[in-house]
Parts: sequence; structure tokens; C-alpha cells
Amino acid sequence: MEAGSALGPTPLTGFKDFYQYASTTRVIAGRDLLSSTGFEFQKEGARRVFVVTDEVIRATGLVDRIEAGVTDGGLEVVGVYDRVPQDSSTHVCDESAAAAKEAGADSFLAVGGGSVMDTAKVADAVFTHGGTAREQEGFFLMPRDDDGMGRPHDIAPLACIPTTSGTGSEISMAAVIKDPEEKVKIEIADFPLFPRLAILDPETTRTLPPKVAAATGMDAVTHAIEGYVSTDWSPHQDARSLHALRMIRGNLERAVERGEEDEEARGNMLIAANLAMTIALGSAHAMSHPAGARFGVPHGVANAIHLPHVIRHNAAGSDEIADRYRDIGEVFDIAEPDIGDALATHITELVDRLGLPTRLSQVGVPEDGIPALVEGAMGDGTTLLNPREMSEEDYAELYRAAL
Ligand SMILES: [Fe+2]
Repeated sequence: MEAGSALGPTPLTGFKDFYQYASTTRVIAGRDLLSSTGFEFQKEGARRVFVVTDEVIRATGLVDRIEAGVTDGGLEVVGVYDRVPQDSSTHVCDESAAAAKEAGADSFLAVGGGSVMDTAKVADAVFTHGGTAREQEGFFLMPRDDDGMGRPHDIAPLACIPTTSGTGSEISMAAVIKDPEEKVKIEIADFPLFPRLAILDPETTRTLPPKVAAATGMDAVTHAIEGYVSTDWSPHQDARSLHALRMIRGNLERAVERGEEDEEARGNMLIAANLAMTIALGSAHAMSHPAGARFGVPHGVANAIHLPHVIRHNAAGSDEIADRYRDIGEVFDIAEPDIGDALATHITELVDRLGLPTRLSQVGVPEDGIPALVEGAMGDGTTLLNPREMSEEDYAELYRAAL
């Protein structure tokens, strides 16, 4: 059997036949960085900046301070779109792209969580290339030189200032957006979507509510763990995933419990979430995307619920998969022979200590919703990257276990 072919499982060890790794976002991290937003963004070619954010963040005064930082650098804020909802949609992307055009912008600045940053990415693509957000769907399908074979065309400069520690969207080339008509989440990924600049400053998460810090932190945990066991693993990402987990181990609970008074934990969680990010994910994400699209379960909460069940299922699939989880167990001092069960139990206890729900029935998912969720999970792109091949029956069983 050929390694990595559709005929057999992809090896999770050894020298890989092929992988590629790219991360073209300039990351700056530290204290008191917001006042130099303009100074830094100017280096990426921005002059007339269009800000994308949400009403909750705007009400904290954070956007005003960042706007002052933009103008301090000699740039102009030509418009602010603050109507991004918690779970953004293709309509919102189209609307903000049109508003940026109308304002005569030449660049985008996203201030917010994953929904805001993903909206800004897709809006920027629509702003630059025309069309609609729905038409951007796909992997590596953005316009390129030489009839699509050459270099992808840049989109307008995008800077991201995350206000949660979890999604990692500020350093990824992917966006996930809801199509409200079809009730699905569409995925868009290509190299030009890497933001040019990401600014990580713990000031942006100072007033983050503990529940949101916990849920988004669990999204980062899920990225690190799923990324490490994905069939699309790479040594480059392995290094990032394991170090992200070490940083999460020491900082997630601290950041949730002590919030405002613990700048160090908040700063480290911003960096951990950034390190954890990968688009090589697996079945926890495949299960969480339809739970969000159909029942509005927040992404981090859905991952927190699904992850332990996926770990148990995957680790029972082969010794090779279990060995990958054993590496993760080492980070948390877990060395039990049944690594799947031990690691899953550890995660559930963590989720419980963080004050998050551990069951789908606690977040409004009814038992008769399972068939639609199974269909969504089977159709999700991340299912193909899960280390254990998944069937409809497998997903139905995992959803029932999580209910
Ligand atoms: Fe995620």
C-alpha cells in the first residue's frame, strides 16, 4: 500500500512524502502596542484604513484607542463597520466590503474575535476582486497569474488585532463564514488571506468575560491537539502545537480566573492561541461547525464538548494514533496505558473547571437534531484530515455520547 494514498491510513510518523508550511503574517507581541498601530500598519502599505469590529468591542472604548493609534502614525480611518454578529454571515461580508468601497479605503483593520477577523478577510477579498462572499468559497481558488497557475494576487493590506485568545484567525489563511440561506458554514482558504500584520497586546483581552476567555481558550486547545494528530501534520506545526499546549497549561486557567489582574497570563494566552492555529484539523471541528450553523452553539463551547469524545474514538483507532496522543499526554503529565481515555478525562475535567458546559443538551441541541449534525460533519472538509476515517455511524455515536 502506498504511503498516504487513499487506500491506506496516512502515516503519523517518519519522513513525510509531502507537506508544505507557510506563515507569512508579521506578528508583533508585547505591551503598549496599540498606540503604534498606524506606525506598524503603514509599513504594510496602508494609508486609508477601514475598521471592522463589533458593537460590544466598540462599546469598551478599545476601538477609539486603536483609531487614535492609527491616526498617530499619520494614517486616516475612513470608516468603521461595527455590525459583525457573533456568528458572521456572507451578507455581513458583502455589506462591509461595500461600505469600505464607498469610504474610499485602501486597507482593512480587524479588531475583534474570530468572527470579526474572518469577516474582514472575506470582505477584503470581495473588496479587491469583486463578486460576492458566497463566490469566494473554496481552497486555493483565488485569482492567480498565468491562468490560475502562477502567483496568487494580493488583496488589500489587512491587519488583525485579536480581542480573544483562541481562534488564531489573525495568523491563518482561512475564514469560516455562515451562509444563512443554506444553513452551512463555508470555508475559504488561500495564501493571500494571511493577514499582513497581527498585533498581540494583552490590553485587548483585559475586560474579556471569563466565559468567553474559557470558550475561546478551549478552541486554542482543540487547534493544538487536532493539529498534532491530523493526517495533514507536519514537523513545523508539531513544534508549534506542543509549545502552544505548554503555554496553555500554565496560563489558560489563570487567565480565566484572574482576568483583568493577570496581564502575563492574558498575554501568554494570546501567543499560545496564535501558535496553536492550523487549518489541518479533524473531527472535533467537523462536529462543531454544524453545531454552530444549525443550533448556534459558540465555536469554542462546541469544541470543548466534542474534543474528549473525538480523542477517545481516534486513540482507539490504531497504536500509531494513540502514540501521537501520548506525546500530548506528556505535556500534561499523563502516561496511562489507555491514553485516549486518560487524556479525554483530563480535558473534560479542565472544561468543567473552566465553568463551561460538557454536554450538547446543555446548549440547546435536541436528540432529533443529530441526523442533520451528522450530515454536516460528514460534509465538512476537516473530516478528511482526521487521523481515523469517519463514517456516519461513527459521528452519530459521538454526537449521542456528547448529548
Ligand atoms: Fe477552531
